[in-house]
Amino acid sequence: MEIKKAQWITLARDMGDICPVFRRIFAAKKSVEKAELEITALGVYEAELNGKRVGDFVLAPGWTSYEHRLQVQTYDISELLSQSNELRVTVGRGWFRSPMPGWDNDGMKKQRMDQPCGLIALLRIGYTDGTEETILTDAAWEASESPTLFSEIYDGETCDARVVPGSWQKVKALDWSKDILIPQEGEEIREMERGAVREIIRTPAGETVLDFGQEVTGWVEFTVNAHAGALVHFNHGEVLDNHGNFYNENYRGAKAEVRYTCKEGKQTWRPRFTFFGFRYIHLISWPGEPKPEDFTAVAVYSDMKRTGWLKSGDPLLNRFFSNVTWGQRGNFLDVPTDCPQRDERLGWTGDAEVFVKTATYFYDVERFFKKWLRDLAADQFPDGGVGSVAPNVLKKDKPSAAWGDAATICPWQIYQTYGDKAVLADQFDSMKKWVDSIGSATATPDLWTGGTHFGDWLSLDAAEGGDRKGGSRPDFIASAYYAHSTALVVKAGKLLGKDMSEYEALHERIVAAFRQAFPTYLTQTEHVLAVHFRLAENPQKTADALAEMVVKAGIQLRTGFVGTPYLLHVLTDYGHADLAWSLLLRREYPGWLYPVTKGATTVWERWNGIKEDGSFETASMNSFNHYAYGAVADWVFEQAAGLRHGEEQAGFAELIYAPHPDERVGWLQAKLNTRRGPVSAYWQWERDGVRYELDTPMPALIRLPGGERKVEPGAYTFWEKHPEA
Ligand code: BGC
Repeated sequence: MEIKKAQWITLARDMGDICPVFRRIFAAKKSVEKAELEITALGVYEAELNGKRVGDFVLAPGWTSYEHRLQVQTYDISELLSQSNELRVTVGRGWFRSPMPGWDNDGMKKQRMDQPCGLIALLRIGYTDGTEETILTDAAWEASESPTLFSEIYDGETCDARVVPGSWQKVKALDWSKDILIPQEGEEIREMERGAVREIIRTPAGETVLDFGQEVTGWVEFTVNAHAGALVHFNHGEVLDNHGNFYNENYRGAKAEVRYTCKEGKQTWRPRFTFFGFRYIHLISWPGEPKPEDFTAVAVYSDMKRTGWLKSGDPLLNRFFSNVTWGQRGNFLDVPTDCPQRDERLGWTGDAEVFVKTATYFYDVERFFKKWLRDLAADQFPDGGVGSVAPNVLKKDKPSAAWGDAATICPWQIYQTYGDKAVLADQFDSMKKWVDSIGSATATPDLWTGGTHFGDWLSLDAAEGGDRKGGSRPDFIASAYYAHSTALVVKAGKLLGKDMSEYEALHERIVAAFRQAFPTYLTQTEHVLAVHFRLAENPQKTADALAEMVVKAGIQLRTGFVGTPYLLHVLTDYGHADLAWSLLLRREYPGWLYPVTKGATTVWERWNGIKEDGSFETASMNSFNHYAYGAVADWVFEQAAGLRHGEEQAGFAELIYAPHPDERVGWLQAKLNTRRGPVSAYWQWERDGVRYELDTPMPALIRLPGGERKVEPGAYTFWEKHPEA
């Protein structure tokens, strides 16, 4: 990359919290054919050439494991170039210099905030006479204070629009690695959708609150006509409390505030170097009477292409499907995060691993995950252990089962959905190292015992008094995942033409040791894992026992992050589709539709984030935009609508059409734009039978109650009479 010829530059004099603007004035000496800008920063930046924004990538350069990898963006700026030019680049703290994570008290926050602000850029001008000129960051650049007085990820942004950069000062060279520079790998982050104010509320507490009707991740853009010095001040919230008042205690340490001091006249503004997870804003100060048309909620996320759609005869279920996709949009902002609002917003590996399959169906996330998985690999511990977050800003944490397993599960799923082995080739070493690290970490050979784990996070079966880790045995979960990850390494290695006999033997030993150590299963999640990871000696019997447990619990799930994604699959695979549907359609706590009855517009972190009486479960860990439990949508695509493929048919080389219709929802439609073309499936429950419609661009194996047969690509209608009709 040519940018490496440029020099890292930084401020000669510290500006504290103020975001600096760097500039370079230059002339284009001849007639220009093409001009390009290669650029990146330590922080997040926005560039302007002659007062016009360069590109539409926001929060560039995105979030990577900065120690090892920093993406460089390349923009075509031919159109923006004049004869005399001024390039300005404002750099905010971004992820690189924000005090993350919120709960850290042992110095990491401070260390991160103290890192230098840096910029590196190369401008290449190609003239029509065939000559070229380059302008590089160097001592010729200058820096000044910008109107952005403060900006960081958790606390928000402060801008004084009256400030005009003017006291230009020298910059200095920064000694920083250029080996970390890589070309842009992920999807670009953009302003993707805009939403209007639904209602301006005067709350019982007398506050002015704006409701956008949908929780999004991004920012509010506003237009105000004011005198210089007037203050716009608001903060963000996801829900109102049970009195209808503004609430954001659940943001914990994140202030999530915007402060904007107006210049004279009409002006439109939005934050530039931060983002918020919100549905509401509390307007603390606004010059004059706020009007709905003055505000727009802008949803900001990675520019992924939508590929999957679900629709049914049940409006509540449809709202849930929408909530799942909003959860994905809100948490796929360059890195798959747990939540977008509180003082976390981290790439929790467990959450990503749980949701990855659903994510691949709703959106094309191949590029998004390939980039993130390289960060995960870059941050693997020397022994191969995988941290709980990637990029790993926790450093000192210990690997947890089901979280670290993102190293194997995510690449495998990306390969399965899209059919390109490149991701396996890319990640194979990381996958293998993860499995090897378990072998050296465990207290018992061929199992994973000991260690610190998150267990079946947030499940409902912890002993009275409750622990967030649930009631399943940590060694059980860890050993089950050890088996699963080893199996995936074997599969990936074989596909890449490697000799995997050593890992095959290891897998066999793990299964044997597991069966010996855990002859019985205690919780719903233990049953689920034993069947789904093919550890149970008698899967049918185990699935039947699981069904019985669910019924005995009053047709209620008791599972957390680990058991929930596979629960309905296991029930359906072993003849209990009806019960799986009952769990999905349950409107009372605990269940997927309960939050929908409470007005949710995204998926909640907890089954009971808002309790029946309207009060909150807790303030300390209660996100209303956590995608993990939305993972059930992959069951709807694969089992309810019936669109799946065999493991050997990655990328939907051949379709297995095996739907499980249910009378209670009436009809279900699924559309999936696969790498082999668009598939659509529909079923409708009628009085004396079920009508199925399938449109497939690939050969399909049809599995309906009447039997199995193969069909060529085409559009088909099938009819099944109810047995009793
Ligand atoms: C996050 C989770 C995450 C967990 C680890 C939480 O604070 O929000 O989603 O996986 O910590 O247990």
